[in-house]
Formats: sequence, structure tokens, C-alpha cells
Amino acid sequence: MSTHDTITLAQITDVHLPPALTWKPWIWNLKRCVGLLNWYRNRRDLHLAPVAALIAADCVAQNPDHIAVTGDVASLGLPGEFAVGLTWLETLGDIARVSLIPGNHDIYTKGCDVACLREWATYMRSDAWGRDFRGGADGFPYVRRVGNVALVALNSAVPTRLFVAAGRIGPRQMQATAEILDRLKAEGLIRVVLIHHPPLKQQAPARRALEDAKAFEKLLKEHGADIVLHGHNHRDTLFWTGAEGGARIPIVGLATGSTGREHRHEPLARYNIYKISGRGGDARIEIITRGLESAGGKIIELRRQVLAPDATLAASGSVMSVP
Ligand SMILES: [Fe+2]
Ligand SMILES: [Fe+2]
Repeated sequence: MSTHDTITLAQITDVHLPPALTWKPWIWNLKRCVGLLNWYRNRRDLHLAPVAALIAADCVAQNPDHIAVTGDVASLGLPGEFAVGLTWLETLGDIARVSLIPGNHDIYTKGCDVACLREWATYMRSDAWGRDFRGGADGFPYVRRVGNVALVALNSAVPTRLFVAAGRIGPRQMQATAEILDRLKAEGLIRVVLIHHPPLKQQAPARRALEDAKAFEKLLKEHGADIVLHGHNHRDTLFWTGAEGGARIPIVGLATGSTGREHRHEPLARYNIYKISGRGGDARIEIITRGLESAGGKIIELRRQVLAPDATLAASGSVMSVP
């Protein structure tokens, strides 16, 4: 466990490593066939494995205390993708340093939830402190501690039908999360919540939204958190929530760690480093975004911003003056 005052937590999300093709016929349901077609038509020259490798290498070179990967490592949730994903995860570091949650492309269709949760299990479980904290309870949400920062990692990915990329937390995780947040608050720890889907209802249309977003926002307002980190929307966003008159909770969305060319709203690959200091309920959080300077270019610092309540996200890009 780190003991210094400022914790650096990196976040990488939505690298969408290429589908690991297999011709076992029972694997190819309609959703995967359409997904594969979409990959070849729209995504193959967008999500680039060499870019994901570059992002991982730059992140490791920055030597963060911990790295959170917020889902969509895979593309079609095919069996071979978990091995490929594991190899990429290992480039980030060992299981003590890397925390992973699944995205809807990891748990893509019926059956791959089992494979995903089994193959990536070691990156998706509480550390020794968290196991103790949770009284030995397994599964999501899992809890890890990095200095005075506690990570609360949820699984919002559920197998979905064709054209649906929605997610769900479910009552069991919801209740456990409420209890965990309360207990972490009592311990004065800084609470960082990880979830793949954007947690606010207005952040996504129904077919790709968190189905229980309304209940989850209520939970956040009642039990509090210092920051929520998510992926899924493939863009950088900053929203705020919180109870009336209470502490504001920043909801930070991050674009992908593999996009090699600009595409509609999706910017070039990047990742975030959160420099977190202070204590629970009164944390100072600075977000440093590093990513591709240009298509085929090198990785540079794109943005640096200290979170102030209700601030909007500063523009990124080389136009920013970086101290
Ligand atoms: Fe994604
Ligand atoms: Fe997603």
C-alpha cells in the first residue's frame, strides 16, 4: 500500500481490442454477426491495437500508483479475446496494481459473462484489505485500497440482445454499494467509484444507458462519493450530481484508449491520471489527460485541470497552456 499523501490513479477505458475470430459455428449468433460486420465497416481502422499498446506504455511510464481499466477491453466478447485482453492488461502491471471492470463489449452476449468473469477474475476482485472490509464477500462491487483512496468497482455489464448496449447494476450490487460507501465514509477514505456505463440518466439514450441510472443517482446523492469514473460513451465528459446543499460529486467520462483517427464525436486515444489528495469528503483531485497529439503522432499532455465544484471540462488539445 502506498503511504504518500498524493495518490496517482490512472484510468484507461474502451480499448476495444480486435475480435479474436473463431469459426466455431455455435459462437456466431445474430448479435455477433452484426457486431463483426460493424467492426469491419466502421471500427477496424478506428480502434488500433498498436495505439492501445502505446497508451498502455505511456501510462506505465508515468508510474501511477494504480491503474483502473473501466471496461470494453474486448469487442465481441469472443473466447479468444479474453486471452488477448489479459496480455494487454499484463502490460499495465500485475493484479495488485490494476483494477478492471467489465464493459458491454466484454459481456457482449449470452454466455460470455461466465468467460469474462472467469478469465479476468484476478484483475476483478478485492485486495486483501477489501476482502477483509467486505467480510470475505466475493464478486461485485469489489473494493481495493490505495493509500487513503478506496476503489469501489461495480459491474454494469449484462448480456444484451441485438442493437442493445445497455447496462444494469441490479439491486444486490446497489445495496452492497450503499453500505460500502457509508462505511468508507466513516473511515475517512476518499471514495472512487468505477463503473463502465455513464451513471446519470441523461448521459445516454435508453438502448445504451444504465437501466437503473435513476436509482443509482439517488444512491450517490444519499451515500456520497468523491468521484465516479466511467467509460462507454467514447468521449471526455464531466457531469456533477449530489444532494441539494450537499457535496458535489464529479462524474468523469473518458474517451477510448485506442482510437487512431478522429471519428464523429470520438477524439483520438487518451487516458487520464487523477492526482488525489486530502481526505474523504474533502478531496483535491487534479485530472491530467494524456493522449495522441495527432493521428499517428506521439502521446503528449492534452489537458490539466483541478476539479472545482460544478466546473465544466476544459478544452483539450495543444491549444491548452500546460504549466
Ligand atoms: Fe466502448
Ligand atoms: Fe461500452
